[in-house]
Amino acid sequence: MKATLRIKRFDPEKDVKPVYRNYEIECDPHDRVLDALNQVKWLHDGTLTYRRSCAHGICGSDAMRINGRNRLACKMLMSDAGEKVTIEPLMGFEVIKDMVVNMDRFFDAYKSVKPFLITGENPSGQERLQTPEARERFDDTTKCILCAACTTACPITWTNDQFVGPAAIVNAHRFIFDSRDEGAGQRLRILNQQSGVWRCRTVFNCTDACPRDIEVTRAIEEVKRALITETIS
Ligand code: SF4
Ligand code: FES
Repeated sequence: MKATLRIKRFDPEKDVKPVYRNYEIECDPHDRVLDALNQVKWLHDGTLTYRRSCAHGICGSDAMRINGRNRLACKMLMSDAGEKVTIEPLMGFEVIKDMVVNMDRFFDAYKSVKPFLITGENPSGQERLQTPEARERFDDTTKCILCAACTTACPITWTNDQFVGPAAIVNAHRFIFDSRDEGAGQRLRILNQQSGVWRCRTVFNCTDACPRDIEVTRAIEEVKRALITETIS
């Protein structure tokens, strides 16, 4: 198939403001948008800049706006993207160059919720056991690949750079509901602050954007409910 990629280009060292440039390519309908971008970079314009690594939806590095929605370029087929594809960087972050954005704020928010197992002494020296049912409780939120598609699809994050954002809450959820963890109270106190879960307005953009099909809005609601019912100490 023939396709036109309309790509938002911006190099702050040379450009005053972003411009859209069109690139005509020939590709297979089963190619991914990442393949099309690679074709532009390798055959037409080597200055085009974007992050990518695994090309299989695992590393989370190539989230971008494709036809106005946050998607992983390596997961979206050209047959689904269409013959005219608009490609833009994620919204709400400083653009470093083309599709590469500054993700420091995203990872600072992630780190702020303590995304690691917090445990006390284990005098027995044996592994901490967990039933399959207890493991199932937080299975969905273990799938996060930190691509930022949810956080940058959330309209609250576009105007409030203090909001911790959906991805950080998903990763807090993963540990809050882990039966082996003893840090739920600490995380809930952090998420009960002004920048925490109560900024969420249940828009569902995050769930739509997640390439791992995580029920992001549900996870946020479960954290809110834990705060209200204080079922977690
Ligand atoms: S929850 Fe989904 S969209 Fe959000 S960072 Fe994780 S994988 Fe990406
Ligand atoms: S390149 Fe790794 S998720 Fe797309």
